[in-house]
Amino acid sequence: MSNALERLQDLEPSTQEFRDAVLAGLGQRQRTLPCKFFYDAEGSRLFDQICELPEYYPTRTELALLADRAGEIADLIGPRARLVEFGSGAGIKIRLLLKALDRPAAYVPVDISREHLMMAAADLARDFPKLQIAPICADYTKPFALPASSGLQPQTTVGFFPGSTIGNFTAVEARAFLTRARRLLGPGSSMVVGVDLHKDEKILVPAYDDAAGVTAAFNLNLLVRINRELGADFALDQFAHEARWNDALGRIEMHLVSRSDQMVHIGASCFGFRAGETIHTENSHKYTLDQFRAMAVETGYTPRAAWTDAAGLFSVHMLDA
Ligand code: TRP
Repeated sequence: MSNALERLQDLEPSTQEFRDAVLAGLGQRQRTLPCKFFYDAEGSRLFDQICELPEYYPTRTELALLADRAGEIADLIGPRARLVEFGSGAGIKIRLLLKALDRPAAYVPVDISREHLMMAAADLARDFPKLQIAPICADYTKPFALPASSGLQPQTTVGFFPGSTIGNFTAVEARAFLTRARRLLGPGSSMVVGVDLHKDEKILVPAYDDAAGVTAAFNLNLLVRINRELGADFALDQFAHEARWNDALGRIEMHLVSRSDQMVHIGASCFGFRAGETIHTENSHKYTLDQFRAMAVETGYTPRAAWTDAAGLFSVHMLDA
């Protein structure tokens, strides 16, 4: 084993934070649950399965795009970069960049899912023994600090935010994230962001409602987690997964639809659901190239380059911070 894997910096959200967010979200008129809580150990496993579904085009399209453009991206980044990945997941995409880069100095994977993060970091340490790896378990929508570099002095810092996770934020949240990331990464840094593009509803909806039911299981797993961690009594067979295209807002929405009039208890709290009433669990906003560039400019970045696949499904942007 290499000794370049540093000890985990653990800022995992507490059960109390989870409870507060769930009670607040379910108390709203349109009930909501924050999508970051999808990623417990089981949720992360299901999400990795989603990424391999035939209907889910974003992962394979972005991987192919990164594989094609890794050399170009690496040239723009230059030598001895420190990479900071927001939502590092299984750590597959970063390998394409690491392999193409000239002597990468350090990798800081940030993820809310602790076991998943530690496994991915250990795998990566095995494959890149000289790379300094400093994992951080955190909700990256909250403040955190980058670790002091202990190995090779980095020449530049690069944020990596693939998977169109930016689309899971509202426009207001996305601007706040981009602004905070720019400050975190510091002067002279850059950002590589994967952004899913507008396309036909006939392609979009199945990507979030696959035939095998993996996305449905992923959505429902949030209720399983609430039952287990917060002592709730959601009846899993009384909620159905639904993916909707919201044309006015340019986004896919995921909901959990109540199949009946029912009561749900969470500790001492009680929530009544009408048949057909929904819990809104996620947004996935789609952008045009210009919409995303405009947002980057508004938040203080200079767009440097953007790449899309031949079919125009997905885009990868490089921004100067
Ligand atoms: N960033 C991914 C997306 O918006 C996240 C995602 C894909 C997702 N499929 C999902 C989240 C299903 C929840 C459920 O495409």
